[in-house]
Amino acid sequence: MANLEVEFCGVRFKNPMIVASIEPTNSPAQIKSCIDAGAAGTVVKTLGDVKQMTVLTDNSRYAILNDRGDVIKGKVPRNFTFYSRSGYSTTYYKDWVPYLKDLHAYAEERGAHVIGSVGSKDIKGWIDIARTIEDCGIRMVELNFGCPHPALIPGVTGGSLIGQDPQLAAEITRQVVEALDIPVIVKLTPDQSRPLQLAKSCMEAGASAVTATNRHTGFAIDIDTAEPRIGGTAGIGGPWVKPLTLRWVHEIYSKLGIPITGSNGIFDARDAVEFLMAGARLMQIGSVLMIKGIKWLPKVIEGLSQFMDSHGYPDVESMIGVASRKAAGSYQDLFQRPRHHATIEADSCQNPSCDICIQMCFYEAMSQGEGQVKLHLKNCIGCELCYNVCPFDAVRIVPTSEEQLRAGYFKPPEEGFIHDFHHAD
Ligand SMILES: Cc1cc2nc3c(=O)[nH]c(=O)nc-3n(C[C@H](O)[C@H](O)[C@H](O)COP(=O)(O)O)c2cc1C
Ligand code: SF4
Ligand code: SF4
Repeated sequence: MANLEVEFCGVRFKNPMIVASIEPTNSPAQIKSCIDAGAAGTVVKTLGDVKQMTVLTDNSRYAILNDRGDVIKGKVPRNFTFYSRSGYSTTYYKDWVPYLKDLHAYAEERGAHVIGSVGSKDIKGWIDIARTIEDCGIRMVELNFGCPHPALIPGVTGGSLIGQDPQLAAEITRQVVEALDIPVIVKLTPDQSRPLQLAKSCMEAGASAVTATNRHTGFAIDIDTAEPRIGGTAGIGGPWVKPLTLRWVHEIYSKLGIPITGSNGIFDARDAVEFLMAGARLMQIGSVLMIKGIKWLPKVIEGLSQFMDSHGYPDVESMIGVASRKAAGSYQDLFQRPRHHATIEADSCQNPSCDICIQMCFYEAMSQGEGQVKLHLKNCIGCELCYNVCPFDAVRIVPTSEEQLRAGYFKPPEEGFIHDFHHAD
């Protein structure tokens, strides 16, 4: 059986699945349930000193939407949108002290770890809360620079407002790191274009790891009533967001090499595998546990183990970053790769009853012939769209030989497909 253990910032986790800072980690009893369900760790709901963020949690609102934007009632399918609003822990951070001590002992006895999460209004607060968590024996702490909600409350700072400001984020990180002995993780916001830069600044300021990422901010509408869902802007996420998150996991893994915990878009074991292959060492699972219950977690862990066995991965380490390392470093690298073009297997092709590839080739490389697809290979740029859409696996993408290149393959029309961009206004 595959070895699920993984090392993260000098601490061994029995498997790579931890529960994110979220409602299922908002009380000691719930945290214990996560640990009992097999979580290798739990990030406590953010502990803060910002009154409005407590008020927000007491005014939480949720809607689960389908891919049409309608509210899902009943069983939630894989493709859901979780649209919601919630703040930091409703218990003041100092009141968590006895619970954190107890939870730390409870977790460690079961081979798991509790991770702290901080959200404050000023540097003194970030340090005080982080120190309070450390003093309870907790082995690492996450700085929540990703929460989308402080930015939506006038006069409140924190969360993504810091996560969008590399200098401020680095300064808070530096001061917290200096004040603590345990590893500091920075949780990023995807509500910006520079998570990589922010991760780099915080890494240089001493952060041991990053969490990529917290959730986006969205706006969802009930078109029948013309009302905004749950009153207006809110946090938004769901399994569909996974590729957007993986982009940052991949970039941070490839360009910075700092340890990553992946969050935002995990539904089941397949998603966890993608996060690992992009470069995450730990995965934080959140909203799906609110939707499916904590009983969902063992299924994810078991599914991961089964995937590793069936695909021959002996341990988690052998999966981390495997796909990222194969990815082109830049588009320029892709341009250097050998040319390819499409061919059609006449035996499998269902034309003329099917003409999907002809409709989808935007390069005038396919047309309807007499009862079969006609290829105009000089125009084929090897874009792979026909290959990816053919329902009968009748298209093959093959290397373009030197002779074929000399014979004029990959020669798009000289006038351009629409018009030559050099002559565009
Ligand atoms: C209702 C709700 C409350 C959350 N509260 C917190 C929080 O207190 N601190 C934090 O760092 N992230 C918080 N998050 C973000 C989650 O920790 C997690 O990063 C995010 O939901 C993406 O993961 P997921 O796709 O598995 O849900 C919250 C998310 C939701 C949906
Ligand atoms: S999509 Fe496939 S089956 Fe359909 S016409 Fe093209 S090659 Fe033939
Ligand atoms: S690979 Fe792209 S350009 Fe070539 S035939 Fe297929 S769709 Fe057209």
